[in-house]
Amino acid sequence: MQKPILILGACGQIGTELTMELRSKYGADSVVASDIREGGEALMASGPFELLDATNYDAIEDVVMHYEIDEVYLMAAMLSATAEKFPMRAWNLNMNSLFNVLNLAKDRKISKIFWPSSIAVFGPSTPKENTPQNTIMEPSTVYGISKQSGERWCEYYFNKFGVDVRSVRYPGLISWKTMPGGGTTDYAVEIYHQALENGRYKCFLKEDTQLPMMYMDDAIRATLNLMEADVSTIRVRSSYNLGSMSFTPQEIAKTIKAHIPDFQMEYQPDFRQQIADSWPSSIDDSYAKKDWGWEPKYDLKSTTSEMLKNLGGK
Ligand code: SER
Repeated sequence: MQKPILILGACGQIGTELTMELRSKYGADSVVASDIREGGEALMASGPFELLDATNYDAIEDVVMHYEIDEVYLMAAMLSATAEKFPMRAWNLNMNSLFNVLNLAKDRKISKIFWPSSIAVFGPSTPKENTPQNTIMEPSTVYGISKQSGERWCEYYFNKFGVDVRSVRYPGLISWKTMPGGGTTDYAVEIYHQALENGRYKCFLKEDTQLPMMYMDDAIRATLNLMEADVSTIRVRSSYNLGSMSFTPQEIAKTIKAHIPDFQMEYQPDFRQQIADSWPSSIDDSYAKKDWGWEPKYDLKSTTSEMLKNLGGK
């Protein structure tokens, strides 16, 4: 039987779908959702929920003890664009929440952690194409600096204290159930909403900015595959590169036009352009493929079909 799981940041873009998937897999009562605010109706109705601040160690420990939690998924974080506006708040949230769960595992109060990293750990000096697992990492954003530091701490806690912490570097994630908040890759979600509502979208990145992206179903599957993998197969304790597709705003617009011929795209790059320019354009995820059998299912075309179908039917 699955021992109880706690999700911190369960109401966000990833947390919502992760919670629902874990609940359908292990049973609603085995998965405790938590966030600093309540989430959508479907999530709130689907199982136990606790109001919880991921930076408050004592509060997390209380919940862990009360439900006899064994695994924690830490999905609470401030993303790249918002973090540039509130650097210290981002650093405090992203780092303190991580230390809280790492220290719970170090003290053997929980036995497994999932913590997401990001393509934002890479920077302008990183090779852009097919970015390797191990390469130059000089992130130039507040968010990227926090994720890069987090990766170092995860590996340190594994080596020093045997903490079973597992991580992937998510690319930009595309989903229809819950909106992303404050990221640089958010355009690739907004565009579908705007295409259906207004037939047009003003993109905050330039037409030829290519970034690594992934459909949410693939991201959730990767996360669960990694968490279920036998401990002996996991060779990377910082964070695994994870890839599926890469595209530009112009290319995503083209796939939307195939469904909505009158769709119009305008470009008005803002401060997020500089963030996007510092990130890879494609990712080499051969370690994830080799170690725990990662294989993506969705490409840009199937992602666009799924997004338009599901949002259109909402
Ligand atoms: N999607 C995130 C962002 O844009 C990157 O991890 O901030």
